[in-house]
Amino acid sequence: MSGAFQTQLLAGKHAFVTGGTSGINLGIARRLAQAGARLSVLGRNVERGQQAVHVLQEAGTEAAFHQADVREYAAMERALAEAVGRWGRLDILVNGAAGNFPAPALGMSSNGFRAVVDIDLVGTFNSCRAGFQHLQQPGAVVVNVSAPQAYAPAPFQAHVCAAKAGVDMLTRVLAMEWGGAGVRVVAITPGPIAGTEGMQRLAGSAEDAARVVRTVPLGRLGTVEDVAEAVLFLVSPAASFITGAVLVCDGGWSLGGLGHLVPGG
Ligand code: COA
Repeated sequence: MSGAFQTQLLAGKHAFVTGGTSGINLGIARRLAQAGARLSVLGRNVERGQQAVHVLQEAGTEAAFHQADVREYAAMERALAEAVGRWGRLDILVNGAAGNFPAPALGMSSNGFRAVVDIDLVGTFNSCRAGFQHLQQPGAVVVNVSAPQAYAPAPFQAHVCAAKAGVDMLTRVLAMEWGGAGVRVVAITPGPIAGTEGMQRLAGSAEDAARVVRTVPLGRLGTVEDVAEAVLFLVSPAASFITGAVLVCDGGWSLGGLGHLVPGG
């Protein structure tokens, strides 16, 4: 990354990351911490929260954990108010909390479908809705973590496809409604990322991973750092005229195309 991004680009800022206690979301939180932001991470599991705070402090910043479930609006309001009380401001809100389990539509109950829609979509709405009042200041930005399921239908993923398509559309609507207040709202779509719970659940074996790699034009799985760098760009002044955009960070995976039909393609 260029010199500008190696400086303390986010010094003095406060970033709040839901689901920021593990995986891609912790990677994003760590990158924002390395860029100088103070971090609040929110999740359900206290032990994972404490470990995440340690990782973030090692990245050289102040950090705190908030235990809450994004499905509970009042708890989100409380957590955000507490975090803003601690650091005095809110500049960056990353909505990464998500749930998933592979099951055919007929293999999930109405409650199973609702659990994922509630975490991914309603949880994102709750965080945005509760966070907005704190975000109204120059440079404020919301980043919603989407997924390829938002645009590509996938068997065994009816709940996630429905929820993440909603997240993309929520991103665009909020960008329109909140632009006047100077709040940017964007989304990031990580493709297949090595070592994540999502990859483990959907393509866990070495054979499955190799099959996925063959469909990525850049010829490899992504890394957590690939996604974190893209988020750093989105929250930086370099992206100050970007709002409502859903940035795909997937090595070209989503291009699909008909390359497999063409010899050598
Ligand atoms: N197949 C079918 N249904 C399933 C399921 C599976 N593998 N796993 C959970 N469900 C159903 C449950 O049976 C329940 O429905 P029911 O009440 O009709 O029986 C419903 O989903 C809610 O399950 P519960 O465990 O009570 O909900 P939760 O809120 O604690 O968990 C989930 C949320 C379901 C998303 C859970 O998978 C989870 O917490 N996962 C961890 C986070 C994660 O998925 N991370 C990956 C992100 S990519």
